[in-house]
Amino acid sequence: MSRQLKIKISVPFSFNVIFARNVFSSRDFLKNFFISPGSIEKKKVIFFIEDTVAESFPDILEKIESFDSKTKGIELVHPVFVLPGGEQNKNIKEAVKICSILSKNKICRQSIVAVVGGGAFLDTVCFAASISHRGVCQVRFPTTVVSQCDSGLGVKNAVNLFGKKNFAGVFFPPSAVINDFAFLKTLAPRDINSGLAEAIKIAVIKDSSFFSYLEKNTENIRGDNSPILEKIIVRCAKLHADHISDSGDPFEFGNAKPLDFGHWLAHKLESMSKGKMRHGEAVAVGIATDSFYAMKKGLLSKGEFERIINILKSYSLPIWTPFLGKKSKGRLSILDGIAEFREHLGGKLSITLPSGIGSKIEINKIDCKIIEDAFIYFKTISSK
Ligand SMILES: NC(=O)c1ccc[n+]([C@@H]2O[C@H](COP(=O)([O-])OP(=O)(O)OC[C@H]3O[C@@H](n4cnc5c(N)ncnc54)[C@H](O)[C@@H]3O)[C@@H](O)[C@H]2O)c1
Ligand SMILES: [Zn+2]
Repeated sequence: MSRQLKIKISVPFSFNVIFARNVFSSRDFLKNFFISPGSIEKKKVIFFIEDTVAESFPDILEKIESFDSKTKGIELVHPVFVLPGGEQNKNIKEAVKICSILSKNKICRQSIVAVVGGGAFLDTVCFAASISHRGVCQVRFPTTVVSQCDSGLGVKNAVNLFGKKNFAGVFFPPSAVINDFAFLKTLAPRDINSGLAEAIKIAVIKDSSFFSYLEKNTENIRGDNSPILEKIIVRCAKLHADHISDSGDPFEFGNAKPLDFGHWLAHKLESMSKGKMRHGEAVAVGIATDSFYAMKKGLLSKGEFERIINILKSYSLPIWTPFLGKKSKGRLSILDGIAEFREHLGGKLSITLPSGIGSKIEINKIDCKIIEDAFIYFKTISSK
């Protein structure tokens, strides 16, 4: 006779995404993120800051370190750790280095890992925090457009491994996300545009009026004090947050990953470029290619397709790159991205395509000939 026990678990998560400016100038404001009401125990807080951010904001370390001594309920680990970020450092070696810092500083499950940096840095530190003691709480301070409107508020933490994007990773939600717009003022135009690729992505598949707003404002988005850029970040973050909380599948147990429109190609392209292309730039090429595919399948009209290509070009985003022409054994290497995406999803391919602007469908097969035609088309128009 066999026996079985059924174990049913449901674990609710909730966290706030706060939009603010110059949070490190106000000690009280920060206190709110680290001390829960009624808490009597001191929270140990360890800060990790991406080196580029520490260089761009030279007083940030002093501001954070001075915050400890007069604030009840918080024990800040000294010093604040400044580490390299960017895609080149989003790897297991850096993650293990961070785990070792957490171990040496006796960080426990009741402590808080606070992380300030771009998407790649957040992914690396949060992955390390998520695997230490089976998950240490994270408070994230994203400093780029991509991380403020998408990655920072996501529930996925991963590093690249075996030449594959995000191969080693876990699902672990943050405890709070603080989008401080003041960080955007030192971003290079390239990184602002790169972030807007994620906004274009989600507008194409979910929100036609947001798409029109992006079209209207191509000239109005420039760095700090751009109210338009801030509006775009808030809207884009809300669309991503709504998807995570309302899709019924925040931890992606199913095959479909609708927010990954354009990403089967983007992830492979990022790996092939060895970090030379920004995530958003690779996503832009992915959006262009998959929109061409959708047009050929009758899902987008020629006019809608052209609106998508024009908006990418208006934000100086690429629609083609020579990396797409790289071959291995007579076959375009980029096409391996389809099999890798399928493997990552769990065996069954599911690719999101736009179906008109503002809605989407999933397809389960890809005709590589149409993808190759897309590359030829974009190469030709890019060289004109
Ligand atoms: N976890 C998720 O759900 C998720 C979602 C989307 C993207 N991502 C990941 O996010 C990463 C891309 O993020 P990104 O676009 O922020 O790239 P990034 O982290 O590489 O940052 C881009 C550049 O900006 C610099 N930088 C960061 N903040 C700055 C500031 N305030 N001023 C000046 N320079 C600054 C960085 O040093 C880097 O050189 C990719 O690894 C991607 O896979 C993750
Ligand atoms: Zn992305």
